[in-house]
Amino acid sequence: MTATIIDGKLLAQKLRADWKLRADRLNAAGIAPGLAVILVGEDPASKVYVRNKIKACREAGIRSEEHVLAADSPLAELVALIERLNADADIHGILVQLPLPAHLAQASVIEHISPDKDVDGLHARNLGSLLAGHPHFVPCTPAGIMEMLKTTGLDLRGKEAVVVGRSNIVGKPVALLLLQAGATVTLCHSHTRDLAHHTRRADVLVCAVGKLRMIGGEMVKSGAAVIDVGMNRTSEGKLAGDVDYGAALQRAGWITPVPGGVGPMTVAMLLGNAVLAAERYAAEQGIRLDP
Ligand code: GUN
Repeated sequence: MTATIIDGKLLAQKLRADWKLRADRLNAAGIAPGLAVILVGEDPASKVYVRNKIKACREAGIRSEEHVLAADSPLAELVALIERLNADADIHGILVQLPLPAHLAQASVIEHISPDKDVDGLHARNLGSLLAGHPHFVPCTPAGIMEMLKTTGLDLRGKEAVVVGRSNIVGKPVALLLLQAGATVTLCHSHTRDLAHHTRRADVLVCAVGKLRMIGGEMVKSGAAVIDVGMNRTSEGKLAGDVDYGAALQRAGWITPVPGGVGPMTVAMLLGNAVLAAERYAAEQGIRLDP
């Protein structure tokens, strides 16, 4: 069997066209959706991600501001910036690019973002709402993964879903979304014994670890939907995922490529959350949007 490739770039383009219509409607009503992106330090990968997000905002009719702080900035400076943006009525979404330099505790930084502007969905209140089944903002990568799974037409109810990786940003929230969709979910991590025993049972396999080709073809169930969140460099300097793509392509039913899979979907879902934040602000202000 050769898997159907889920083209994240194409799907992201379609979604972004939808968000642009909604952003245009806000702009026409005098609300320019505004996203602030904070980058601390010089991490080259983070710089590329931030540049892509800013460019995507421009194309979608979303106003963006980039705030760059030095790598050794004290916590107080970052918190002061977040608080200023929390109070800025022209900013509807705030994103702190991760990872942060080691001296800045990620979790406590995120807690300073207003939950109503937390377009990454990573504030404890937003993660709690997701857990309780009434999400306010769904984290971008997990939301993108669910959109990609929709294109397979699979009914997730009763399916075996295996997630490898237990981060707050991908593994834990995507496990909750799969559970919500009715799948039987197994969440694997670095202490899991016999990982292949779990992955081989998976109708849906999500891999979000960040280890080059750690999932071999023999670890994939025939016909499975394989979502590869990994973004690793090969020894030749190319981008590749956590899944051995060539081998898994021969066994899976569906598979996401790296690059061109989950990455573009994360950016698209961020724009969706930014538009949603601005729409909520407009509603709060009693501003009616044209249908
Ligand atoms: N770093 C890698 N992915 C992400 C993301 O989705 N959001 C943020 N804030 N940082 C990231």
